[in-house]
Amino acid sequence: MSDIGPSSASVGRFAVLGPGGVGGLLAALLARSGAAVTSLAGGSTAQAIATSGIRVESRQFGDFVAPVAAAERLSEPVDACLVTVKATQLADALDRLPPDVVGSALIVPLLNGVEHVELLRQRYPDATVIAATIRVESSRTAPGVIRHDSPFVGVELAVEGSAGPSVGWLADKLDRAGVRVDISDDAATVMWSKLTFLTALALLTTAAQAAAGEVRKRCRDDLVAMVGEVAAVAGAEGAAVRADDVVGFFDAIPTGMKSSMQRDAESGRRLELDAIGGAVVRAAGRHHIAVPVTSRYVDELRGRYPT
Ligand SMILES: NC(=O)c1ccc[n+]([C@@H]2O[C@H](COP(=O)([O-])OP(=O)(O)OC[C@H]3O[C@@H](n4cnc5c(N)ncnc54)[C@H](OP(=O)(O)O)[C@@H]3O)[C@@H](O)[C@H]2O)c1
Repeated sequence: MSDIGPSSASVGRFAVLGPGGVGGLLAALLARSGAAVTSLAGGSTAQAIATSGIRVESRQFGDFVAPVAAAERLSEPVDACLVTVKATQLADALDRLPPDVVGSALIVPLLNGVEHVELLRQRYPDATVIAATIRVESSRTAPGVIRHDSPFVGVELAVEGSAGPSVGWLADKLDRAGVRVDISDDAATVMWSKLTFLTALALLTTAAQAAAGEVRKRCRDDLVAMVGEVAAVAGAEGAAVRADDVVGFFDAIPTGMKSSMQRDAESGRRLELDAIGGAVVRAAGRHHIAVPVTSRYVDELRGRYPT
């Protein structure tokens, strides 16, 4: 992508690596709004999408099928590449995105965690990799079939360096597709405010095998302590995260809310534990900050589940 981004009149060429709950929804919304979208997936999923497109069943957007191209590996340049595999799948999945084809495209990772941004910058030195997060509840119920449960889908995109025009271009495309977009100039806060909340939600609900409401009651001390620990690490990483606000946010989420880590544990899938809790513990070590409660949960879950 050039410094000024593709012309806003262009339809936009997107690759979506991992057309699951997050990627499949965004691929379908972008394709429905006129963008040229190629999803990158393993053979059977790519075949299903190439044959039938992506079907979305959504509380917010209704039910629709969008024509999305599919391939196992990127072979043509794109303007932007959304990376939407799980953290546990990232290393293998990146083989589908050759750096020479990606070139100077905009790369937008929407995985939970923080460390993947630097990993992608090292692997794609000519690309513009931005920090970003997504708020949504959606799941892949079959290859190319996405159920979108939340009455919203929103992304927060961080502008760093000269990425402003490219991020503005992307925001316009996502907005036209029906995605709420917020833009921030504070990448550390974008990533760490989400990670602070998510670490507590994921580790506590998974360890307790209970939803948010029960965790709030049963594990109150650990909740407050863990949020305080992660917020301290976030501050050392340059983010402005107030522990009281995060606990307040946790107190306001629906009683029955589960985390995706908890759902992965229930289904026997690998947990994104290293990308979430592991990343917090590593950052704490770099800054010599004690995180005993977070470490205890990470160690316990590592012993209990595949990661
Ligand atoms: N879902 C949500 O509501 C939500 C909300 C916020 C953040 N997130 C985060 O977003 C990320 C993605 O989560 P998700 O729920 O969308 O996961 P998901 O539904 O499991 O989707 C992952 C997708 O990646 C594909 N995939 C796996 N290995 C691959 C490989 N080697 N090459 C190419 N594609 C591969 C899977 O293919 P198959 O279809 O063939 O299995 C699937 O389509 C995670 O970090 C998650 O924590 C999710």
